[in-house]
Amino acid sequence: MKTYLITGGAGFVGSHFVRILHGAEKDALIINVDKLTYSGSMDNFKSIKSSKRHVFYRADICRQEILEKLYERHKPDIVVNFAAESHVDRSIDSSRKFIRTNVEGLRGMLDLSLKHGVESFIQISTDEVYGPLSEGSFSENACLNPRNPYAASKAAGDLLALSYKHTHDLPVVVTRSANNFGENQHREKLVPKIIENELELKKIPIYGDGRQVREWIYVKDHCGALLELIKNFKPGEIYNITSGFEMENIELAKMLIKMTAKGLNGSDSRAKEINEGLLDFVEDRKGHDFRYSIRGDKLRNDTGWKPAYDFEKAIEKTVDWHLSLDRRNGD
Ligand SMILES: NC(=O)c1ccc[n+]([C@@H]2O[C@H](COP(=O)([O-])OP(=O)(O)OC[C@H]3O[C@@H](n4cnc5c(N)ncnc54)[C@H](O)[C@@H]3O)[C@@H](O)[C@H]2O)c1
Repeated sequence: MKTYLITGGAGFVGSHFVRILHGAEKDALIINVDKLTYSGSMDNFKSIKSSKRHVFYRADICRQEILEKLYERHKPDIVVNFAAESHVDRSIDSSRKFIRTNVEGLRGMLDLSLKHGVESFIQISTDEVYGPLSEGSFSENACLNPRNPYAASKAAGDLLALSYKHTHDLPVVVTRSANNFGENQHREKLVPKIIENELELKKIPIYGDGRQVREWIYVKDHCGALLELIKNFKPGEIYNITSGFEMENIELAKMLIKMTAKGLNGSDSRAKEINEGLLDFVEDRKGHDFRYSIRGDKLRNDTGWKPAYDFEKAIEKTVDWHLSLDRRNGD
């Protein structure tokens, strides 16, 4: 029986991973550690709350003495670190917490993982560490060019994690995913912000001209890729995780407007008011990168993984999830 230590498992991606892992590995014990900052919620894993194979601790990964007790008690075989400060806008306002959690918190986990001889350490990172490019896509050996404090803190974490493989032979792997979307994402992020604003008939802020291009992956595909990778990775390597699907932010907003208006019950008067008139072009984010794009062939070649979800169907599922939440809240 394997014991997994998942940090950040009450957040958006981490909680999907915890639930998918719980369903996929029936004899695994999952130790889920999360500080429950503004972006984490125990509601995100309520379907497995009473399971004997899932244990939740509210703890800060920067509190090494607490984390050490958990390593001693549970002796994890596999560590997956999702815990992070994750919102670019917040990192522009203040980068302090980003360095604390995304670098110093990670450092403590790497030291404890080394001391306790874990079998695998998976560091979850982002395509933002590569910075922007106008054409083509970055492979894993591209130079890092992070251009906002969030991305810089993640790049620092990636390099630190990889150094523990090269210096200490800790079996580390770093994954860099494209933008995720799906159920339970915090409202500050682009997709839920657009849908929730629409449903409240509020203006939808669009940075600059909205022509920034992002690559999108459904969160369940990201988690599926991680499950494959855990079974079959080369320590010290970096793996990009992407669907290869790119879209301009403004096109995404227009698509979500159409889907949400269509998804509303015919008698709901908001259906007519949810239209492009809600789009509000606001001053661009400082240092806003115009396009991210990564190549995903290394992961596909090494593990055989490929995305299971079509973008349009998955984004429609996400809209439906927000609509059913809206209906429940309205009852
Ligand atoms: N969401 C995306 O589009 C995306 C894309 C690529 C990579 N990632 C990476 O995936 C990871 C998870 O992202 P997310 O979108 O789920 O973020 P999120 O903000 O939804 O979740 C982060 C979780 O970490 C927890 N946390 C924060 N600081 C902590 C601390 N000091 N100790 C313990 N727990 C702490 C929070 O409470 C929260 O539950 C991050 O490392 C992020 O960089 C996310």
